[in-house]
Amino acid sequence: MLKPKWMFSFILIVALTMFLVVGCGDDAADEPDPDEDVVVTVAAGAVGMELELTRDLAEMYMAENEGVTVEVLDTPDMVEDRLGLYLQFFEAGSSEVDVFQIDVIWPGDLAEHFVDLNEYGAAEVAGDHFPAIVENNTVDGALVGIPWFTDAGLLYYRTDLLEKYDLDPPATWDDLEEAAQIIQDGERVENPDFWGFVWQGRAYEGLTCDALEWIASNDGGTIISPDGVITINNPNAIEIVDQAAGWVGTISPEGVTTMAEEESRAVWHAGNAAFMRNWPYAYATSQADDSAVKDLFDVSPLPAGRSGSGAATLGGWQLAVSRYSENPEVAADVALFMASREGQKYRAVEGTFNPTIMDLYEDEEVLEAAPFFGSLYDVFINAVARPSTVTAPQYSAVSELFYNAVYSVLLGETSAADAFEELELDLMDLTGFDAE
Ligand code: GLC
Repeated sequence: MLKPKWMFSFILIVALTMFLVVGCGDDAADEPDPDEDVVVTVAAGAVGMELELTRDLAEMYMAENEGVTVEVLDTPDMVEDRLGLYLQFFEAGSSEVDVFQIDVIWPGDLAEHFVDLNEYGAAEVAGDHFPAIVENNTVDGALVGIPWFTDAGLLYYRTDLLEKYDLDPPATWDDLEEAAQIIQDGERVENPDFWGFVWQGRAYEGLTCDALEWIASNDGGTIISPDGVITINNPNAIEIVDQAAGWVGTISPEGVTTMAEEESRAVWHAGNAAFMRNWPYAYATSQADDSAVKDLFDVSPLPAGRSGSGAATLGGWQLAVSRYSENPEVAADVALFMASREGQKYRAVEGTFNPTIMDLYEDEEVLEAAPFFGSLYDVFINAVARPSTVTAPQYSAVSELFYNAVYSVLLGETSAADAFEELELDLMDLTGFDAE
C-alpha cells in the first residue's frame, strides 16, 4: 500500500502525464499534415459564365500545384446579398473562405478583413494593372484586393433591327426612346413579348449604376462629389430620372423594376428586346450558340444627355485574401494566379470579362474574341466611379438611400424633385457632408 503522501504524488504524475499526452496530441492535430491537401476556398460570382470560368482557373491552378485543393463557392448574384453573406463570415472570424471576390465599391468598407497583398507578392505585379483600380484597392497603404476584371455599362443594340427600320445607333437618350418605340411597334405585330429597351430597374446596387449613368450623362454629377459634397439635388439629375421613369411601361416592360442584370439579359438573349444596358460579360453570352441574337447585335457607348457624351459606371471585381484564412500564403498565390495575365486572358477570351492588366487590350486573341475592348477602350478608362471612396465605410448605406429614392420615382410614387430633396437630407444625416 502506498502512503497517502506517495499516493498524492502518484496521482499528480499520472494527471500531468495525461495532460501532456492529450495536450501534445492536440498540438499535433494543429500542425498541417504533409499528406493532406491545403484547401483554399474562393467565394466567387456566378453571373453569366463567371462561375464556370472560375472553376476552370481552379482546375488549372491545381494541375500545377500538387497538394492544394481549390474549391469555388457559388455566391448570390445580387451585390447586397453577396455582401450580407461575406459579413457573416467576417463577423464570425471564419476561416471557411480564404479568397473573396470583392466589388470595386467595397475596398474602403471591408479593408479591415483582408491581408495586405503587397506582402504576398502583389507588389511585383501591381504595375501591370490600371493604376486607378490599384489605387481604389489601396487602403491606408495596404493592397486589399488584386484587380481581377473591370466593368463599364454599355448599350447593346440589334444591328438587324436598326437596319430593318433604317435607324442609326442612338447617340442620345431621346434618340434611344424614339428608336425603341419604332422598333417595338413594328416587332409587336409578330411578337407580343417584344420590348424596346431593357435595363436594371430593381431596387439594388445595379440601379445605382444605371441611374448614375443617366445622371452623369446629363451633367448631373455623381450623387456625392469626390471631395465630399452632396450634389444629387440638382435640376439635371432630376430631369433625367423623371425621363427614365417615363420608360417604365412604355419602351420598357413594367417588370423592368424587378430586373437585375440576368433578368434583363434573359429578355435580350431570347430576342425580345431592341436595346439593352448591361456590362461586357453579356457580349460572350449573347454570342453563345443558344442565343437568339448571335451575330445580330453590337455594343456602343451609352447614350448622351445634356453633357453631350454618354457615361458608363465603373464596375469590376477584385480578389482579396481573408485575414482569418489559415493559409494566407497559399490563398494569396491562388488569387494572384487567377488575376494573372494568364487568368485574365482566359476569362477575356472565353467570357468577355475586361482585363485590368493594361497590355491585354493589345493582345490579338483577346481583341478577336472581344473587338469592343479595342473600339470602346475610352469608355473603359473614362468610366465614372460611384462615390465609394469618399463615403467609406458607409458607401453601401449611401447607395441604398440613392437607389430607393430612384426606385420610388420609377414606380411613380413620387417625382424626382421630391425624392432628391428628401435624399439630400438623408445623405446629410448619414454622412455628415454638406449639400451643394
Ligand atoms: C457588376 C459590376 C459591379 C456592380 C454590380 C451591380 O457586377 O461589376 O461593380 O456593383 O454589377 O449589380
